[in-house]
Amino acid sequence: MNRKQDYIAVFDSGVGGISVLRRLVELLPRERFLYYGDSANAPYGVRPPEQVRRLALEAAALLCRQGIKALVVACNTATAAAVETLRQTYPDTIVVGIEPAVKLAADRFPGRAVGVMATPLTMESHRFRALLEHHGDRCRFLPLPAPGLADLVEEGKASSPECEALLTPLLAPLRGKLDAVVLGCTHYPFAADTIRALLGSDTVLLDGGEGTARETKRRLEAAGLLYEGPGEVTIQNSSPDPRMLLLSRELLAYSGGMGNSESEIRNTIAGRG
Ligand code: DGL
Repeated sequence: MNRKQDYIAVFDSGVGGISVLRRLVELLPRERFLYYGDSANAPYGVRPPEQVRRLALEAAALLCRQGIKALVVACNTATAAAVETLRQTYPDTIVVGIEPAVKLAADRFPGRAVGVMATPLTMESHRFRALLEHHGDRCRFLPLPAPGLADLVEEGKASSPECEALLTPLLAPLRGKLDAVVLGCTHYPFAADTIRALLGSDTVLLDGGEGTARETKRRLEAAGLLYEGPGEVTIQNSSPDPRMLLLSRELLAYSGGMGNSESEIRNTIAGRG
């Protein structure tokens, strides 16, 4: 068995984790990636934690059956609810979970005003509260819950009048008042253009995608599991709607939003089964 050639599995409640997948592909272009979006059960952010744990375990089982060397939980909500359980269940697999970029914000914007957008489940989680408690005195953090935003991204409406209408009451009053905003849900970077238009271009948007990609590379390197193949990306989705695979492909190729996705992404998109 050559574990190096096994997949790096990337999992999210839906298409949001593709914002992390694109960072991974940029950093590790010669690896084999297997992305699974659980759009049939999205959004996770409004579910009870036990349900999210069960869904995350089901997704991990499905991915493990296909031969994986690492599991990247590209969903802040699933990390908050399930990363410990996943680590206990798969002790021989590298498990990396994304977290809101609160530490990055505290390092880069000490003493400044920083908004944090995340799902209700993430915001109520013990992990997130501990993260804020740990770094809370280094910045003035302002929670900005945005219910409904992940749903719009799932519908392919990240840059739409609906998205602008949803975010205007939350963000327009803060225009020019925030130094940075943490996008603590992996769906949100796809709405970065709308968020930036409302907040003004001086507000820096931060997300955990790049840090998660770097951590994944570091863990694979330490385990001697980096692979130098031709590189491929396979995308699977739990929704029977074929449009979810098309949307996934579009989002993977999307180079706007956070603004630094310049590398060529050579991808093979395959349906499930
Ligand atoms: N993408 C997920 C996250 O990072 C949440 C979206 C959802 O509510 O399903 O938190």
